Amino acid sequence: MVTHGHRQNDKLKMRNRVIVVSSIDPAEEGGWHESLTALLDDFTVLGHRDAATVDRDAVRYLVAWKPEVALLERFDRLRAIFSLGAGVDHILRYRDKIADIPVFRLIDPDMTARMVEYCVLHVLHHHRHQRYYDALQQRGEWRSWPNQRPARDVRVGIMGMGVLGGAVAMALQGLGFQVAGWSRSGKAVTGVESFTGAGECQAFLARTDILVCLLPATAATAGILDRALFRGLARDGVFGAPVVINAGRGALQNEPDIVAALDAGELAGVTLDVFCTEPLPAASLLWDHPRVVITPHIASETCAEACAPGLAAAIRALECGEDPPGRVDLTRGY
Ligand code: NDP
Ligand code: OXD
Repeated sequence: MVTHGHRQNDKLKMRNRVIVVSSIDPAEEGGWHESLTALLDDFTVLGHRDAATVDRDAVRYLVAWKPEVALLERFDRLRAIFSLGAGVDHILRYRDKIADIPVFRLIDPDMTARMVEYCVLHVLHHHRHQRYYDALQQRGEWRSWPNQRPARDVRVGIMGMGVLGGAVAMALQGLGFQVAGWSRSGKAVTGVESFTGAGECQAFLARTDILVCLLPATAATAGILDRALFRGLARDGVFGAPVVINAGRGALQNEPDIVAALDAGELAGVTLDVFCTEPLPAASLLWDHPRVVITPHIASETCAEACAPGLAAAIRALECGEDPPGRVDLTRGY
């Protein structure tokens, strides 16, 4: 029998175990609120606006996409911060406020599958000259691209061979592309050539016709996609000039350099999902460039329904003193 005293205790316990969810998108925040409330019924889940008056000592976890600095300043006794994405740069920009609070990133099969779809779509878009056919359709012309090559003649290079890059590499390799990956540490993926660290970057670029960037934004990767890097890519491949796809972060790319490299014929085309400033400002030259494909940071959107069970399990693990996957190395920045 549940006594009045027990109910009082339960209520007290719940008041003392608060999760704050914070997103710039109210619909996303609402979705996470609903999913986490259903999965963690012994916690109180609050949206970031409702958290303004809550007892700060009761808040154990912050689950956030681009949180306001005030939240991190107020809740400085958290047990952990969870990113609502695979990237954590939006949280680590407030590194000085976080001190030693553990930060976790999302690792989820749904997110990986979405990123694989995006990268395969855009590699094929360039490989099969889809922009050319779109233009022909506009003019009502029936003509094929001269000498369409098979995937086995095309060398794809993945920068960042982590959870997402590794899965993308395997999918593209399965389609018959020649795939290589570049990362800080060596990777053993069957059929995928591995290049490691700064010392092997040039060799990696020199064999790459289509570059897919899935690096995190850190101090070491800032602005890495610049003119010098583009000039290091293969020029003897099937496209003549290489192609760049960036679904990592905007901070990785030098946007004026991208436009200049396209105009100089040093790049054949680009697909960009991420930008230095988001939303991409109306004045950006990228919008109207005929060889640029733009998507609004949707390569792999986080789905609360799919990802909440993993996040709830991670919170349960922490409550039991275990170490769930996805802990970020705060010094490395990813
Ligand atoms: P991981 O942390 O699993 O992988 C990161 C990879 O980058 C690792 O292979 C790592 O090397 C490599 N790396 C990091 N720094 C360097 C460096 N300085 N030089 C060489 N290699 C480096 O991350 P994920 O794969 O899960 O995600 C990657 C990024 O994708 C996220 O950080 C995020 O920015 C972006 N993203 C974008 C989305 C979108 O919708 N556009 C959606 C989800 C994520 P090593 O393995 O040796 O550590
Ligand atoms: C992420 C993103 O980091 O969506 O997950 O960009």
